[in-house]
Amino acid sequence: MKTLHRVADLHGELSEWRTRHETVALVPTMGNLHAGHISLVERARHLAECVVVSVFVNPLQFGPKEDFERYPRTLEADAALLRQTGADLLFAPAVADMYPGGYPPVTTVRVGGPLTGILDGEFRPGHFEGVATVVNILFNLVQPAVALFGEKDWQQLQVIRRMVADLGLPLRVNGAPTLRDADGLALSSRNQYLGPQERAIAPRLYAALCAIGEAIAAGRRDFAALCAQQRAVLEAAGFRAQYLEVRAPDLAPPDPQAGAWVVLAAAYLGSTRLIDNLQVRAPDVAVQRAMPE
Ligand code: PAF
Repeated sequence: MKTLHRVADLHGELSEWRTRHETVALVPTMGNLHAGHISLVERARHLAECVVVSVFVNPLQFGPKEDFERYPRTLEADAALLRQTGADLLFAPAVADMYPGGYPPVTTVRVGGPLTGILDGEFRPGHFEGVATVVNILFNLVQPAVALFGEKDWQQLQVIRRMVADLGLPLRVNGAPTLRDADGLALSSRNQYLGPQERAIAPRLYAALCAIGEAIAAGRRDFAALCAQQRAVLEAAGFRAQYLEVRAPDLAPPDPQAGAWVVLAAAYLGSTRLIDNLQVRAPDVAVQRAMPE
């Protein structure tokens, strides 16, 4: 596996692949790779002949009071893991490579409408503009046939799908299921910020999603009341919840008559912000309780 930092080197490698007519899958990441990322790379290997993994902690998607500076950067360990997994190319650019016209860029991509004004869009202003911009740049640089993203960032996945559709970008977006620790906590690079006590409490976020999902699967449709009840449970456990909501899978307001929903949450435990979500199906199809055995 090659590790490249410069755009010119990336172009050189990709043009060799292209002359051999090899299809490319892209897994965009911010590094500090864990089993969730590796599952994306493994999935990518089945979808294309060559797999590019990008590692770039994108400053444009962090708010001024967020964790850009302390976000874990572990490029050597990431490269070792990717080598074992069979990725073909690790692209790890610097800010100046990704934003060659200077940082911050004056040209950005903003997905408008209600999709980016709710949930994380409400609590992290500018976040999705930063994500859409950097993902668009990566798509332009790598020109993949398929790009893979985790369903843990459900809203991000919808924003990227929308951008791809609206701009007619010639690639497929593939969403992959969330991986969890044995106690249900969704894998995330930010989990390592948690102290031991916080780590013990953290799985309750997923438990709250499951409680709501099970109530819906059992026929309840009082979404707001269900969320308010579980929000109180989370607050009592020590979380500071930002949102806990039931929505349609495309994040439109939830239709009680529909057959599928997603329950989404963001909450702080101390200074660590956790997000998670759970897909729920109509009563005849059991809730997708993904709690590992
Ligand atoms: O999900 C992430 O890790 C990031 O938001 C992404 C998609 C790599 C863009 O920086």
